[in-house]
Amino acid sequence: MRLLRLLTLLALAAAALTAFASRAQPVIGLSLDTLKEERWQRDRDLFTAEAERLGASVIVQSANSDDTRQVRDIESLITRGVDVLVVVPHNGAAMTRAMRSAKEAGIPVISYDRLILNADVELYLTFDNVKVGELQAQWVLDRWPADQPLRIVRLYGAPTDNNAKLFKQGQDNVLQPLIKSGRVTVVAEDWALDWKPENAKKIMNAAITKHGHAFDAVIVSNDGTAGGAIQSLLEEGLAGKILVTGQDADLAACQRIMRGTQSMTVFKPVAKLASLTARTAVALARGEKVAGTTTLDNGYKQVPCLFEEIVSVDKSNLMDTVVAAGFHPAEKLQ
Ligand code: BGC
Repeated sequence: MRLLRLLTLLALAAAALTAFASRAQPVIGLSLDTLKEERWQRDRDLFTAEAERLGASVIVQSANSDDTRQVRDIESLITRGVDVLVVVPHNGAAMTRAMRSAKEAGIPVISYDRLILNADVELYLTFDNVKVGELQAQWVLDRWPADQPLRIVRLYGAPTDNNAKLFKQGQDNVLQPLIKSGRVTVVAEDWALDWKPENAKKIMNAAITKHGHAFDAVIVSNDGTAGGAIQSLLEEGLAGKILVTGQDADLAACQRIMRGTQSMTVFKPVAKLASLTARTAVALARGEKVAGTTTLDNGYKQVPCLFEEIVSVDKSNLMDTVVAAGFHPAEKLQ
């Protein structure tokens, strides 16, 4: 009897020690959709650096744009005993099974940059994605004479990414009244599967084949796909003559802005988001409460959210924003 009590006490002490150790040195699982785009490599590096600075360790998985693989990645992170999960979903609506497993294991989940839908997510840390779309459309309108009709091609992102819908929603907020009044005409529009530049190029090629050169601007939702569209414009001798938007301030996009083949991008200070998320993940692992400043409905609950600021960037303010923030060194932009 006494032995049994001793054993129980020992087991409790061991569990308390493990919990203490895991709070002092939490393990965070970071599950990414992809590492193919420049921005996600930067997110990963900054997130890991900040988490490690705070005494945590990070296990990173990248799903290569494959939902089945991402669910497997998350389940393996759960099995490896992570204290918190940080997830950038390839498809926010396809994570249900993985989220159920996390819940059963009592592991809190932070939705990073993209919202996980229909699941019990602890927090959503992102940028104001609707505003990204508004800045893109507004930039084009501000550069076009108010008394001139404007013909646009609209190139959206991955239909599986909730953010892609929010970017479109923001663009719609600005464009719809003008489309209704007849000042803006949408010549062609399509979604680039998995945000792939080659898919964007195909869409642009198809628009040119069908409509010739009869458009003034291409509203593209990110820099990777802008790169694909611009490739097609280059082949037609149109690059630099047509306004093209983007997002992410990728190095290649900033170089195109300097050369004049891309008109603008939206700078999202990833360093701030990544370190805020790392701090939040560590706090959650240590059992602290974390609050949002607003909420978003993900179909399951009102998820507490935090938004980082964004800024519209073109040739006129590239140095004062992207370069001044240390995002790219000036000499790489020459
Ligand atoms: C992100 C963008 C990124 C895109 C493609 C979106 O969810 O918010 O920054 O360009 O995914 O990876």
